[in-house]
Parts: sequence; C-alpha cells; structure tokens
Amino acid sequence: MTPDRTPEHTHPMEEDRATWLTIMDKMDETWSQLVGQQVELEQKNSALEEAHALIASVFDSMSDLLIACDTTLRIVRCNRAAQEALASGKSLIGQPLSALIAPDSPISIETLSRRLTDRQRLEDQGITLKTPSGAQPFSVNSAILRDSHHRVSGMVLAARPLGELRRAYDELDRAHKSLQQAQTQLVQAEKMASLGRLVAGVAHELNNPISFVYGNALTLRRFTRRIETYLSALHAGHTPEQLATIRREQNIDIVLNELDGSLAGITEGAERVRDIVADLRRFSSERRAHDAPCDLGQIARKAVNWVLSTCGRDIATTLDITSALEVEGHSGQLQQVIMNLVQNAVDAMDTTPEPHLRISAHQQNGQVILEVADNGPGFTEDIAPRIFDPFFTTKPVGKGTGLGLAICYRTVHEHGGTLQARSIPEQGACMTITLPAHAPGETAP
Ligand SMILES: Nc1ncnc2c1ncn2[C@@H]1O[C@H](COP(=O)(O)OP(=O)(O)OP(=O)(O)O)[C@@H](O)[C@H]1O
Ligand SMILES: [Mg+2]
Repeated sequence: MTPDRTPEHTHPMEEDRATWLTIMDKMDETWSQLVGQQVELEQKNSALEEAHALIASVFDSMSDLLIACDTTLRIVRCNRAAQEALASGKSLIGQPLSALIAPDSPISIETLSRRLTDRQRLEDQGITLKTPSGAQPFSVNSAILRDSHHRVSGMVLAARPLGELRRAYDELDRAHKSLQQAQTQLVQAEKMASLGRLVAGVAHELNNPISFVYGNALTLRRFTRRIETYLSALHAGHTPEQLATIRREQNIDIVLNELDGSLAGITEGAERVRDIVADLRRFSSERRAHDAPCDLGQIARKAVNWVLSTCGRDIATTLDITSALEVEGHSGQLQQVIMNLVQNAVDAMDTTPEPHLRISAHQQNGQVILEVADNGPGFTEDIAPRIFDPFFTTKPVGKGTGLGLAICYRTVHEHGGTLQARSIPEQGACMTITLPAHAPGETAP
C-alpha cells in the first residue's frame, strides 16, 4: 500500500478502490511467481526424465547382470541382461532374491543379508545363480543403496558369468603368448642383425692388419730364398769372389737391412689383430677398461702409415701434426677411427689424377683437433646428413659396408668428442675430430 493512496481525509469510495488496486497488484505478483515456478518445475521434470532414460539405457546396455533389491532383499529393479539370463518370460521384479540363488552357492542369501545389515560391499565373489538352463557360476560385486536422505534403501548386485570371464581370460592368455613369441622372434632377429653388423665391422677392421702381415710375410719368404741361395753357396765352398758376386746378385745386404723392418711390420700387424680381438672382448663386456692418456698425433701417424702402405697407390701426403697431443681414451679404437677416415679419403681419391692427403692436428682451447682432408670429389649436400648412418654407402656391393663412419662417430662420441664432415666444392672432403685434451694429473673414472 502506497502512503499517498491513504491520506487522512479520503472519501470511503476512494479508500475501497485503493484497497482493490493493492489486492490486484498482489494477485498479479503471485500469478507471475506461480508461472515462473511452473516453468522451472517443467524444466526440472524434463531433466529428470532425461536422466532417467539415460540411466535406464545404460542399465539395459550392460552385459553384466544388474539387480537392485530393497532392504528385505526383494527385487525392485533389474536390467535386461539379468531378466534374460535368469528368468524365462516371467518378470523378476517383486521376486525374493533368495529364489535366484542356488542352494550350493558359495555366497548365500544369508551372507548377502548380513552384508546389507553391516553396510558392507562384496567384491569379486563367486555366486551360483539359478538360470532357465540350470545353476551357473557368476562373479558378483555388491553395493549398498541409499535414498536421497542417505538412508539405506537396499542393495544392488552386479554379476558376470564366469564362463565368459574364463573365455576372456583364455583369449588374453593366448594374445599374451603370441605377443611373447613375436617379441622373442624380434629380439632374435635384432641379435642376428647386430651380430652381422659386428662381424662385418670386425672383418673390415681385420682386413688391413692381416694384409699388412701377409705382405710382409711374402717379402720375408723372398728374403729367405735369397739367404738360402747365399748360404748354399757358402757351404759349397765357393771362392770369396764368387761369394761376393752371389751376395750382390741376391741383394743380401739389402735383405739383411730390411729384415728388421718386415719383422717389425709383421709384429705391428699382429699386435693390431691382438688389439682388435681384445676390443671384441671389451665389446662383449662393454667396459672401458683400456682408457689411458695417449698421443693422438702418434696414433694418426701410425694410422696413416698403415693405410697408405697397403693401399697400393702413391698418394702425396702432408702431415702437419704438432707434438704432445694427449687425449684420454682407447688408443686402438682411436687408431681405428683415423684409419677409417684415411681409408675413406683414399677411396674417394680413387680416380683423382693427383691425389693429395692432408692430415693436421693441433691443440686449441683445451681441445685436440685433428683433420683428415683429401682432394677427391667430396660429397653432395643431399647425402651429407646420411653419411654417418650405419650401412649408408655409395660404394659398390662388396667394397663398402657403410659402417666405417658410423663406428667412428660412436667411438669419438664415447670419448667425449665430436666428428664432423664437410665437403668443400672443388677441393674435396674434410673430416674433423675434436677431443678433449688430457690434462696431466686428471684421469677419467
Ligand atoms: N672422404 C670422403 N669423400 C667423399 N665421400 C665420402 C668420404 N668419406 C665418406 N664418404 C661417403 O660416406 C659414405 C659412408 O662412409 P663409411 O665409411 O661409413 O662407409 P663406406 O666407406 O662406404 O664403407 P665401409 O667403411 O664400411 O667399408 C661413403 O660410402 C661415401 O659415400
Ligand atoms: Mg669407410
């Protein structure tokens, strides 16, 4: 009621009118509130119906048997799977749960009743239920049902036929076994592949020292024949003049001079073979037992000599190596690396009219840097990213395995260094090894 509508001296008719107006205002207000509530109610109702339909369809789409009971363990609701598995035609609703449980069931109706009283759930227990085709074992889970006021209103059971579980389990077992078999085959295939790679690598590494030993052994055999000829002449009692002639003819002085060199060559080659075998042992035990300070310059000289002495060509070589380039590592492996790089350079210069090999090594900012450069054709940009890949080769079958640079790369990285390749147009290829210089007094663990 507005104060200006009730002045003290208003006419009685006026007063009635004002009262009516107020009542009508109130009725309007109440009416619109009612309409609002009605709309809200309808919305809630339809949401409720949707939720109901969703639950019902989830309930019915489950393959597990779902049975909801009240507090007296009488069935109040069940899904389609339960209806189809446990009753032929007759509805389960309203039946006592006890009617479904077989007398010899591991979980009895008494147990279920106790669980309900104690508000306890059941997990994966065996239960035998009566079905139209006889008693069947199920695995059952149960939970306590509560109403909106959180009061216990019954129990829900979810049962799964054990036969189906067993089938699923057997299938899983079969899949697992075939997976295991496939895995064993894969491991075996990988083992064979890495064995093949190892054998190829070893053959590659052994090739050089063995041909070195072989070459020197042939020279020694030639020397032996000459010495034999000379010794026979000596024993035959020739005159000193005749002996001097035979000695000259057979180059006995040169032979005697070179004997030591050939023997040293054989010894060096044999030592290299021994190192490779030791490497193989190390390879199988995967231990860095042979790490020690070593001079990369000396190793490089040896590696270059080895390769050039067996390559069968005259290759102009420039060595620019400063002294005392100590690094920490496995000298045999580092020699292998440099030999591989030199061998690649020699191969690359196969058809180069004036082949020239340049090896330089120096120390800079705590790093020892060694370069192997050639004046061969180099390599194109498209193959540059792949030359360190195992088995990448542009050489004909039987000539290269493509493992050389892959082994070099791994070995240099294992020594804490880097290996880089660059190709300079019109000049050739250059491979750069950078290794941490060995600081005296420090030894890697
Ligand atoms: N100095 C180089 N000049 C030009 N190309 C090179 C040079 N060094 C390596 N390459 C290229 O890189 C490829 C891979 O070299 P890598 O040493 O790994 O294998 P490979 O020499 O072909 O065979 P392997 O060393 O196993 O006998 C070579 O085939 C070649 O194409
Ligand atoms: Mg190679």
